[in-house]
This record gives sequence, structure tokens and C-alpha cells, in this order.
Amino acid sequence: MLFKQQALLRQKLFVLGSLAIGSLLYLVARVGSLDRLQPICPVDGRFRPHGQDEIPFRALQFKRGLLHEFRKGNATKEQIRLHNLVQQLPRAIIIGVRKGGTRALLEMLNLHPAVVKASQEIHFFDNDENYAKGIEWYRKKMPFSYPHQITIEKSPAYFITEEVPERIYKMNSSIKLLIIVREPTTRAISDYTQVLEGKERKNKTYYKFEKLAIDPNTCEVNTKYKAVRTSIYTKHLERWLKYFPIEQFHIVDGDRLITEPLPELQLVEKFLNLPPRISQYNLYFNATRGFYCLRFNIVFNKCLAGSKGRIHPEVDSSVITKLRKFFHPFNQKFYQITGRTFNWP
Ligand code: A3P
Repeated sequence: MLFKQQALLRQKLFVLGSLAIGSLLYLVARVGSLDRLQPICPVDGRFRPHGQDEIPFRALQFKRGLLHEFRKGNATKEQIRLHNLVQQLPRAIIIGVRKGGTRALLEMLNLHPAVVKASQEIHFFDNDENYAKGIEWYRKKMPFSYPHQITIEKSPAYFITEEVPERIYKMNSSIKLLIIVREPTTRAISDYTQVLEGKERKNKTYYKFEKLAIDPNTCEVNTKYKAVRTSIYTKHLERWLKYFPIEQFHIVDGDRLITEPLPELQLVEKFLNLPPRISQYNLYFNATRGFYCLRFNIVFNKCLAGSKGRIHPEVDSSVITKLRKFFHPFNQKFYQITGRTFNWP
């Protein structure tokens, strides 16, 4: 009899214990999943996209985890299928301008959980050989993303290449186009500095900037020099405007992106109809680099490569004055067309 009662008591204790452990496990799992469902930071209703632009929290959550692995090629086909990942054509392209800060802009936009960047410059639209490979080739060059994320690529040669506007229009006539510009003379010197560095690396000599930028016969600005031509922003933009209305462009101030990146990025978020997610936390000034660097989270941060932010050679002040005078009327036209005014001299 006593033995039977003890067995019954043990049975009851076992059932109660199992119930307690079960409830505890349920609570742990529930709290965990709730935590995972929380958005990274609260969504501001003002810029919240609607309809098909809506970004599911799930996509935002996985941006730095699984997606990162997938982009590094560490995903199995099964994982790609399970997570509904796709390689999407870009919905926005940074088309230029070379040395305007295109890399910094792309990397900074990639801080946004709904943006996925194509790491390499693809040169699909400006390179005939690549273009001949077709749009599927281009799409396959894109990183994996969730369907509601935006893929962005940058190839600064697009801005100045004759055939590109028509080709992009044929792919997507409503694509969003980003152009990052700097004060034209500084941009031209930056362009020259990059070429100069390439020559020096190959132990080659190169002309001084002054010699290239000024025609020795006329003593006028040498408009045949590519670094000068590229800085005539309005001439290039006018070609693009034959295909796209001005509303499809957003002009980024590349000089301000260097000194004060956040407001420039917030303007881009707005243009792309993205909820504002890039914050001051994501950007910190690195005194050694002399530039803002990126902070993705508590463990992962990075600065741009050393090839970004080169020291420019000193240029004769009379040449700088001549160039600034030359660019002035083109700049005025550029302000007028874009509706964005800069304090360029
Ligand atoms: P300089 O090398 O003349 O300083 P691009 O990526 O289009 O080639 O542009 C390069 C320019 O990006 C650099 O030009 C640099 O000034 C600018 N830039 C803007 N923000 C930067 C950042 N956070 N880190 C490094 N370079 C940055």
C-alpha cells in the first residue's frame, strides 16, 4: 500500500516537473522569437513606404546575418530557396561622377538594412562586350537579396558614356539615378591624381596637371582633356535628360558627404522612399584617416580603402582660377537644371 502511494506521488511529481520545464522552455523560445521580430530601430511613419515598397521586418533583420553569408557565397541552394532570396536588377544606380565620392556613397547607403550593394563596378552599360552578354548576365552579377530590398550598383563611367542613358532606359525607364558631384576643379585634380598614381606605380613619368589642363597654344582651358570634360556636369546631364525626367535624378553633394555625411544620406533615403534608418551611430569620424568611417554594429566597422582620399598635388593657383572661371557658366546651368545650388566658386 505504502509502495503504491509512493509510486503515485513520484508520478505526480514527474508530471508537475515536466509541465514546469515545458512552460519554461516555451517562455524562453517565445521571448527569443519576439526579440528577433523587433525592428532594428523604430520606423518613422513619415517616410514609411507603402504597397509593394514596404520592407518586411524579416528582411531588415537578416541583412547583417544570413544575407551577408549568402553574399559571400556561403549559401546552399536550399537556403536561397528557403529564404526566398533573389538576384535583382538594380532599382537605383549611382551613375557618377568619377571621383565624386561614388564608393563612399554606395558603402554608406549599404548601411541601410533595405539596401544591398553590388560590390564591384559592373560596367554593363558602358562596355559593349559586357552589354552584348545580355540583361541576364547583368542580373546574375547582382548580390542575393530579399525581394523587398533594393539593389544598388555604381559604375561612374555611366555618366559620361554616350550610349548608356538609352541602354538603361531600355532596361527600366523608371529607375532612380544618383549623381554625386564635387566642386568641378577639385574633382578634375582628384581624377588626375588617380591617373598619376597609376603611372607612378608602373614607374612611368606623367605630365603635370597644369600642362594637361591648359592648352599651351591658346593658354585656354584644354577641353580635350578628359578630367576637364568630365567636370562639365551639365553637358553630360543634358544627354541623360533626353531619356529621363529630372525627377528621376538625385544630386548628392560629394563635398558635404566628406564633411557631414548624414544629412546627405538622409536626402537619399527620402529620394529612394526608404524609411530613415542610417543614423549618426553608423558614421564616426576617424582622425587618422581624416574621413568618416562606417559602423555597422558593435563589432563590425570599416573605413574606405586608402586609395580613397589621396593627397592631391599642388596646382598653380592661376590654373585653378582659370579652371574655376571656365566651369562657372556650366555650373550655373547645372544648378538651374537640377534645382540644387552649390557654393562652388
Ligand atoms: P580624393 O581621393 O580626391 O580625396 P570615388 O569613390 O568616386 O572615386 O571618389 C573618391 C573620393 O571620395 C575621394 O577623393 C574622397 O575625397 C571622397 N570621399 C568621400 N567620403 C569619403 C570617405 N568617407 N572616405 C574616403 N573618401 C571619401
